[in-house]
Amino acid sequence: MSGSNFRFTVWFEGRGSIKGTNEMANLSINGKAFDIDIEPDTPLLWAIRENAGLTGTKYGCGIAQCGACTVHVGGVAMRSCGITVGEASGQQITTIEGLAANGTLHKVQQAWIANDVPQCGYCQTGMIMAVARCSRTSAEPSDQDIDGGHHQYCRCGTFTAGARGNSRRRERLRGRHESACQLNRRAFVIGTAAAGAGLALALDVPFGGPTVARAADGSPEVNAWVVIRPDNSVVIRIARSEMGQGTLTGLAQLVAEELDCDWSKVVTEFPTPGQSVARKRPWGDFSTGGSHGIRGSQEYVRKGGATARVMLIQAAANEWKVPASECTAANGVIRHTPSRRTTTYGKVAEAAAKLAPPADVKLKDPKDWKIAGKPLKRLDTLDKTTGATIYGIDVKLPAC
Ligand code: FES
Ligand code: FES
Repeated sequence: MSGSNFRFTVWFEGRGSIKGTNEMANLSINGKAFDIDIEPDTPLLWAIRENAGLTGTKYGCGIAQCGACTVHVGGVAMRSCGITVGEASGQQITTIEGLAANGTLHKVQQAWIANDVPQCGYCQTGMIMAVARCSRTSAEPSDQDIDGGHHQYCRCGTFTAGARGNSRRRERLRGRHESACQLNRRAFVIGTAAAGAGLALALDVPFGGPTVARAADGSPEVNAWVVIRPDNSVVIRIARSEMGQGTLTGLAQLVAEELDCDWSKVVTEFPTPGQSVARKRPWGDFSTGGSHGIRGSQEYVRKGGATARVMLIQAAANEWKVPASECTAANGVIRHTPSRRTTTYGKVAEAAAKLAPPADVKLKDPKDWKIAGKPLKRLDTLDKTTGATIYGIDVKLPAC
């Protein structure tokens, strides 16, 4: 038996507590073995987040009270801040990142998405892990089952764990649970989340011009707010924080409305303040608070979408050698009415990105809105139910 492969359980059981002494622990997390150099009495939560790098499990209270850190250990929902690495060693550990199976989200995650449950989402991964255990043990959960499965604190105030006797809460939770149990296991490919990942921003000119600014995947920026990929998917940049109120989705709706793109093909990404400074602040103010996230930027983000639409139409008109005034756009498709020719945003984005932006654009009358102001599904819910959302506590600075 060599050191690194030596089962931690054997060491721990044989030697008792080895406080202050690091040992090689072998933890099985989401079906993968992790050899971790750690003290055996370290809370499992630390090993999951800091050593295994799985940040979907959250630190809340650190004293086994709030439930933010709930994982499954040996098939039982447990608060990982309240169990040691030594106690968990040798058992199968499942975190939120491992809850989906074969690319299909767990039925509780599906129900969470169907009901747009999360606000900020911080407590939600722990809550989902607790409910997932509840749904495994009972197809028809009682109030007791539900309360037992949901004894979680929500800092947004959405579900207060102290409301055990609150029947309204029980009904809401039961409703969610029942919808989870009744949902078909329809395929929900997590790849949609991957599609939004890795979209680091190019640091190039923000608007138009002969040099095309590009996203990390090489897709052209039509302007600082809009990147269009060859497959017609649209990346909309969001420069305000999403704190749970739906700011991200609301701002994306405003840009998409003026852009006249296909909403089902919209993903979002956040530029960083550093990128903003490097590009001479093309996204304006980044501050979020006092309910100003949308109110304070709605006009210029709409102009970002409208400007991109005009440039895309102009690029198509140039290709067809027709006046842009004879062309219209809807759902990401540009149409030349007299000749009935059509093309897509994805096909002309490269040419559009090289055009000078119009000096001014006319915004739509809100009475004509089809996307903005409508109760659409939130774009941030999927990541919040899979543990993919990155919070301040999850950020690792270089060399840390
Ligand atoms: S962080 Fe573990 S229960 Fe609060
Ligand atoms: S802490 Fe529960 S959704 Fe924000």
